[in-house]
Amino acid sequence: MPAIKHSEKNRPLSPRLSVYRWQIPMMASLAHRASGMVLALFVPVYLFLLTGLTNSPEDFSRMLDWMHAWPGRLILWFTGVALFYHMVNGIRFILLDAGWFEARESMRITARVSMGAGVLAALLLGSFLW
Ligand code: HEM
Repeated sequence: MPAIKHSEKNRPLSPRLSVYRWQIPMMASLAHRASGMVLALFVPVYLFLLTGLTNSPEDFSRMLDWMHAWPGRLILWFTGVALFYHMVNGIRFILLDAGWFEARESMRITARVSMGAGVLAALLLGSFLW
C-alpha cells in the first residue's frame, strides 16, 4: 500500500497504527494497554486459583499440579511479566502525568527503561519457572 502523506489540514485526529511511524514511546504505550488487558483477563483465573487453593486438600493438590504443568507455568510467566511491565510503565505514566520526563528524549529513554525492565523480568521469571 502506498504511504499516505498528511498535511496539517488532513492529518488524522487520533493515533492510527497504519499512519504513524513506529516509535519506542508508542510501543511502550501499546504494550501498557496490552498488559492491562492481560491482567484484567487474568482476574477470573486468579479467583479460580484462589478458590481451588483454599477449598480442600484435594483441590489444593490439583491446583498445584496445574500450576506446575507447562500451561500453568506459561500462564503464570506471561501474567507475571505483564504485571511487572504494567507496574513499571504505569509508574512512568504517573510520573509523566506529574510533569516529569516530558522532553522528547526523556520520553524515549524512559520508554526504553520500561521495556528493558519487561524483558529482564521475562528472563528472570522464565529462569525461576523452568
Ligand atoms: C501494579 C500496579 C499498577 C500500576 C502502577 C498501574 C498503572 C496504570 C496507569 C497509570 C494506567 C493509565 C495508562 C494511561 O494513561 O493510558 C493504567 C491503565 C490500565 N490498567 Fe493499570 N496499573 C497497575 C495495575 C493494574 C492491574 C493489577 C490491572 C488489572 C487487573 C490493571 C489494568 C489496567 C487496564 C486494563 C488499564 C487500561 C489500559 C488502556 O486501555 O490503556 N492495572 N494502569
